[in-house]
Amino acid sequence: MAEKIPTTMTAIEITEPGGPLVLKPGKRGVPEPKPGELLVQVRAAGVNRPDVLQRQGHYPPPAGASDIPGLEIAGDVIAVGEGVTRFRIGERVTALVAGGGYAQYCVVHETNALPIPAGYGFIEAAAIPETYFTVWHNVFERGGLQSGETFLVHGGSSGIGTTAIQLAKAFGATVITTAGSDEKCQACLKLGADHAINYRNEDFVEAVKEATGGKGVNLILDMVGGDYTGRNYEAAALDGRIVQIAFLNGAKATADISKLMVKRLTHTGSTLRNRLVEFKAGIARELELKVWPLLVERRVAPVIDMVYPLHEAWRAHERIEDGHHIGKIVLDVS
Ligand SMILES: NC(=O)c1ccc[n+]([C@@H]2O[C@H](COP(=O)([O-])OP(=O)(O)OC[C@H]3O[C@@H](n4cnc5c(N)ncnc54)[C@H](OP(=O)(O)O)[C@@H]3O)[C@@H](O)[C@H]2O)c1
Repeated sequence: MAEKIPTTMTAIEITEPGGPLVLKPGKRGVPEPKPGELLVQVRAAGVNRPDVLQRQGHYPPPAGASDIPGLEIAGDVIAVGEGVTRFRIGERVTALVAGGGYAQYCVVHETNALPIPAGYGFIEAAAIPETYFTVWHNVFERGGLQSGETFLVHGGSSGIGTTAIQLAKAFGATVITTAGSDEKCQACLKLGADHAINYRNEDFVEAVKEATGGKGVNLILDMVGGDYTGRNYEAAALDGRIVQIAFLNGAKATADISKLMVKRLTHTGSTLRNRLVEFKAGIARELELKVWPLLVERRVAPVIDMVYPLHEAWRAHERIEDGHHIGKIVLDVS
């Protein structure tokens, strides 16, 4: 490692499972890059709902991952491990990590890092990886969304939702979304959604049927679960697909599974964090090829809700938990 790199750093620790205030700055050793890894001086780190679950003690880091929260970073490469070929010291990267993002330094395998798209600063760049990797895999690879299809995304104003709306539109789908307020619905329409349903005033199944001439939607991205399970089966078209990425309203559901058979539905799901570095590398390559040009042209871009300094990570968690945010919350680590 180069001489100027300090041995210790400030990182946000989860001092015990609990509310936002258990997030406290602490001192940790600066990680050393293993073969194939980059050491990144973190300039900004994205905040995601899974970080909240980890803080509450419901989502432990996978084996081998840092216990420091944070799944995405942007910063400068300041050291490289043996055999690194893709990036050099001094380059600016954005990266998906399995933990360790809320810190001044973080290591990442070079294949899970991407160059910061031209025209983007660290704050915006840090808000890209977690939702773009998740949406790319679940909507396009797993869900198989095609141009001309109809796509329903629940939680349209979330980090995931704002990314899903923009990417689905950019790839030629008609997008219907649900959100919990008129303000959030307006934001989704502004991002390109064709229809936005305030689920607090309107039954989304009825609204979807109306918007699709009774046919239903080809693909649903769902983070709500619970009673949405059966309602998604109602809202899906013949041969429809439902991709489950979370269960904010509960993991247990009762649903009419005859709908699965009669409509020939496919209900699948996945989690990203515990997948192998090689799997994430495959998504990174696809994103660089197919989505990075759209980011550079700003046909898609992360939506930044709020930025907090690293040591105020607890405020970022309060913000995401109060549920009023639209898009992404980012920690400034400069
Ligand atoms: N499987 C994966 O690989 C993967 C990867 C990343 C994230 N995720 C999951 O995807 C979801 C979205 O992540 P994010 O970071 O984009 O989160 P986020 O910005 O906090 O979004 C959560 C959204 O869900 C909506 N919502 C609906 N029912 C809710 C409930 N009961 N409690 C709280 N929110 C509710 C909220 O908006 P309304 O006001 O409209 O209700 C909010 O916009 C999270 O559950 C996260 O764990 C999964």
